[in-house]
Amino acid sequence: MSADAGPIAYPYDNALFTPSGGPVWHWRALWRQLRWTNFKSELAGRLQDWQPPAKNLLLLGPSAGWCLPSGFLSRFETIDAIDIDPLAPTLFRFNHGLAIARSKTRLHFHRLNLVRSFDDILQAYPDHAILFANMLGQHTFHDENETRARSTIESFKGRLTHRHWATFHDRLSGFYPPGQPLPKAATSTEAIDSAVLASQLGLAGQWLDHLTANTLPNGVERHLIAWPLLHDWLHIVEFGSVKPA
Ligand SMILES: C[S@@+](CC[C@H](N)C(=O)[O-])C[C@H]1O[C@@H](n2cnc3c(N)ncnc32)[C@H](O)[C@@H]1O
Repeated sequence: MSADAGPIAYPYDNALFTPSGGPVWHWRALWRQLRWTNFKSELAGRLQDWQPPAKNLLLLGPSAGWCLPSGFLSRFETIDAIDIDPLAPTLFRFNHGLAIARSKTRLHFHRLNLVRSFDDILQAYPDHAILFANMLGQHTFHDENETRARSTIESFKGRLTHRHWATFHDRLSGFYPPGQPLPKAATSTEAIDSAVLASQLGLAGQWLDHLTANTLPNGVERHLIAWPLLHDWLHIVEFGSVKPA
């Protein structure tokens, strides 16, 4: 199929269960919190280093913020969060409500498909810094046309040239033998091809490519972090932040 195979169907806009969120994801996230400590603290360090000169944050696909540090969220006066998951607002407040009440951060959730409405969303929040919170790598599950999905993911950087933005997103995922030490965090300033990345990290077997190798502009530092989603299932997550051109 080509990239111009017609419009995306958006089948999950009003769904409770989706391939990238919903009750199964929340249940797993709740029970895996302790096992995610190293990943969450590595991510917290990256977010601490990201200091966009903005009082407001546009948070894209945050779910319930299971991996996000409350301290990072509390830095902002206002957070506008966009997610299609109907459970996200309540569970996000369960995770971060107390901290953001203390910092007087105003939180507004919007149930929108951000791929469909991206340009409208950007226009509505011209002064917000933007964080894609691990949703770009999920887009491959929302669009059955791989070429079009890759092209959509790669299009965002060109639409954000005047904005401060950051993203963390899945690069690869696959089976990982329980008990084997996780790959060490790594950095690169260039896009790393997925097969090369798997080989560099010593990942054997079949790995799912999340089509995000070229999400970030060239020259931007990429930080690769291991995230043990399940006891035998590993994700390699990439973090990067971008200043206006
Ligand atoms: C893996 S979860 C994010 C996890 C989050 N970083 C956390 O700390 O809990 C991905 C989220 O992206 C949302 N999402 C995926 N595609 C979306 C889209 N096109 N528009 C809005 N939300 C989307 C899903 O509903 C889901 O809540």
